[in-house]
Amino acid sequence: MESRRIRRALIPAAGNGTRMGAMTRAIPKELLPLVDRPALDWIITECLEAGVAEIAIITSEYKKPIFQRHLHGYFPEITFTYIIQESANGLGGAILCGEQWAGTDAFLVLLPDDLVLNENISLKLTENYEENGRSVISLSQSPEELLENYGVAAVQIPDVGQVIVTDLVEKPRRGSAPSNFSVNGRYLLTSDIWAALKSPNNFQLGEIQLTPALATVAKSSGLFGVETTGIRCDLGNPPSWLRSNNLFARSLVNSPEGIK
Ligand code: G1P
Repeated sequence: MESRRIRRALIPAAGNGTRMGAMTRAIPKELLPLVDRPALDWIITECLEAGVAEIAIITSEYKKPIFQRHLHGYFPEITFTYIIQESANGLGGAILCGEQWAGTDAFLVLLPDDLVLNENISLKLTENYEENGRSVISLSQSPEELLENYGVAAVQIPDVGQVIVTDLVEKPRRGSAPSNFSVNGRYLLTSDIWAALKSPNNFQLGEIQLTPALATVAKSSGLFGVETTGIRCDLGNPPSWLRSNNLFARSLVNSPEGIK
């Protein structure tokens, strides 16, 4: 049987972070603090704990040297590769930049403004992949009024803890979501994602969309879901970034590790 160890992770980090306002004129969104360290450091630690040894950061010419300076000498266990996303062509476009780098290997994708408190979702995805050998994404049950902000999955749950994704809709109109399982920014993708991303059906509004490509994978080779139960923290806009800092700070103060 082929090895199902996951060694690679891809982090899309090319965006300008305009929703974070004036802060991102000074600092890339991914390096804004989450309590005592930049958000990106939390993401890389999540990767390390999941067994990742190679990370591709998909970024812009402007942000690349800032990330290089920041990561130089840190995380010696990880080999970093920086890949430039030439045009702002969406999340699918960012992931497609990693095609040559990943080759035929399965790999993780972590959206750096999405975190779950006290839960390593990447580790849960790699464990699911080791068992099933299929693409798998993380899902949270969300309140009805928030579903329009996310990708939402249609699911079958044949057994306790087993979630099969049958379809996905990106940001469904209110009242039309196929379930309350929203996609929360962690994906483990097998190499069939490349053909799916390149299909013309996924090019919408000037962007290469990830969600319809995942729907294609769900209907062809199969897609699993892993439900996360921890508190979801969004670092993508100032109010929820502040709330996330508050939640993480309270959790760290109460942990043996404490705030560094
Ligand atoms: C992206 C994805 C969406 C997912 C979300 C998680 O949306 O397209 O499916 O639910 O991340 O944060 P964005 O936040 O970039 O609009």
